[in-house]
Amino acid sequence: MPLHILQHPLGAHVLTHLRDKTTKPALFRTLSYQISLLLALEATRDLATEEKKIETPLEPVTSRVLAKPLVIVPILRAGLGMLQPFHDVFPNVSVGYVGLERDHATAVARSYYCKLPPLAGTRVIVVDPMLATGGSAVQAIEVVKSASGKEIVFVCIVASPEGVALMQKAHPEVPIHAGALDRALNSRKYILPGLGDFGDRLYGT
Ligand code: PRP
Ligand code: URA
Repeated sequence: MPLHILQHPLGAHVLTHLRDKTTKPALFRTLSYQISLLLALEATRDLATEEKKIETPLEPVTSRVLAKPLVIVPILRAGLGMLQPFHDVFPNVSVGYVGLERDHATAVARSYYCKLPPLAGTRVIVVDPMLATGGSAVQAIEVVKSASGKEIVFVCIVASPEGVALMQKAHPEVPIHAGALDRALNSRKYILPGLGDFGDRLYGT
């Protein structure tokens, strides 16, 4: 499945300030909101619609509405920084949570929480700002699939080539929408140039 990289000039502008190490958590949260809003629109371009008959103040008309329920699944904790814009443009979404934390020494993600709404017949959008080794995203999508999630999309702010490759191997049918595709991972499995630890910068930890 294709990798879609955000092309909007505002995306590039926002990402520059997210990457800047002098950006403080309050601004970092605002910037996360802005780029996630752009990504939310891109990742939902192909949503199915169906006909609905309504009446305008002037006459009846057959128009279109969204056909499928949407479920957003942020990967805790940093994925929470991407949730609000999805809520704002799709107020009827259901939200599921998958809690994963990378071990600092091995960079392998450990699962500590999971709560998902019914997923059958829905479009599931899994969100996590950083696709580094890809271990967290692959694991979260496995959880979503085992809970009957079928039409799945993954959205991140920064992706690494390694993370994209692992996702395409493990879940080849899942489209990836990313704000940027960066160069590589360092020896501690952080993305280069990246923006550092997203969760720490979001929450000031
Ligand atoms: C970060 C990030 C992703 C994960 C990506 O989370 O938010 O979930 O690392 O890395 P991966 O692709 O190598 O799995 P972290 O584990 O630091 O937890 P946090 O969100 O609680 O900060
Ligand atoms: N998690 C982050 O927050 N940043 C990285 O660069 C890699 C994993």
